[in-house]
Amino acid sequence: MKLANKTVLITGASSGLGAALAYAAARQGAQLVLCARRGERLRQVAAQARALSGRRVLAVRIDLTQPAQLDRLMTVLKQKVGTVDVLINNAGVGYFEKALDLPLAKVQHLFQLDVLSLMQLTQKVGLTMAALRRGVIVNIASQAGKLVTPKATVYAAAKAAVIAYSTGLRMELRPLNIQVLTVNPGPIKTEFAHIADPSDQYAQAVAGIALDADQLAARIIRAIETQRRELNVPWPMEIAARLRTLFPAIADRLIASPLFDRK
Ligand SMILES: NC(=O)c1ccc[n+]([C@@H]2O[C@H](COP(=O)([O-])OP(=O)(O)OC[C@H]3O[C@@H](n4cnc5c(N)ncnc54)[C@H](OP(=O)(O)O)[C@@H]3O)[C@@H](O)[C@H]2O)c1
Repeated sequence: MKLANKTVLITGASSGLGAALAYAAARQGAQLVLCARRGERLRQVAAQARALSGRRVLAVRIDLTQPAQLDRLMTVLKQKVGTVDVLINNAGVGYFEKALDLPLAKVQHLFQLDVLSLMQLTQKVGLTMAALRRGVIVNIASQAGKLVTPKATVYAAAKAAVIAYSTGLRMELRPLNIQVLTVNPGPIKTEFAHIADPSDQYAQAVAGIALDADQLAARIIRAIETQRRELNVPWPMEIAARLRTLFPAIADRLIASPLFDRK
């Protein structure tokens, strides 16, 4: 699917990869619906995207963890936008603490945003796509969901859920002509790392290998256009993830060693 003149809904568009995706889609001539909680940041991204595309960009301030606000988003879409051609489930959060130390409230928030809200929005928008028998759903998961590391345990569990959900969804929706793309990036240079580990130890440790959000966004747009099922970047992490499934016991010890564990 080419994005020119298509309507693309991006969650978590106020910063990081979501903002980069908004600019990349705008450059292709897409009409955008951008969602996040921080209204001012979202308006700034919307204004820049509008300048790039000359097309309509709607900014919807929403907390995706609140089901009532998801309903409000659907009403706004119905009244102001019509059909969504591409849904990009990008909003997410990570907390890098050992599983036994992470407070339940943070576990619940992480799963609500990264997994349950993603599923709820997918269901709502997916039903409208199914009625028209066309659409694209992009789920931003993570290499963390495949290459589990200590302290990312809960985040990895959530992203593994997103990967599994996306795989099943792809099989269910293919007969309805709806494409499902799973994106599994390694570390990206965004605000994510500081939220996950406010000491910035993690951000500093991965600074040398972190992906550029704009370059990744451009690759995601290409993956949509070429109907890829998965985008795994960077490739050495993907190879490591595959080796992990072949040699799990060795991998557990290596990954938890100071040589590889950067948290
Ligand atoms: N950065 C990495 O190293 C990395 C690696 C692999 C995968 N990922 C995934 O990539 C995606 C994007 O993250 P990022 O790296 O771009 O981090 P980011 O800059 O922190 O972006 C996260 C986005 O999610 C939004 N968000 C957070 N809570 C929300 C809520 N309750 N309701 C609505 N929106 C909410 C944030 O906006 P507001 O705060 O304004 O609501 C923000 O726009 C996430 O799914 C993340 O798990 C990141």
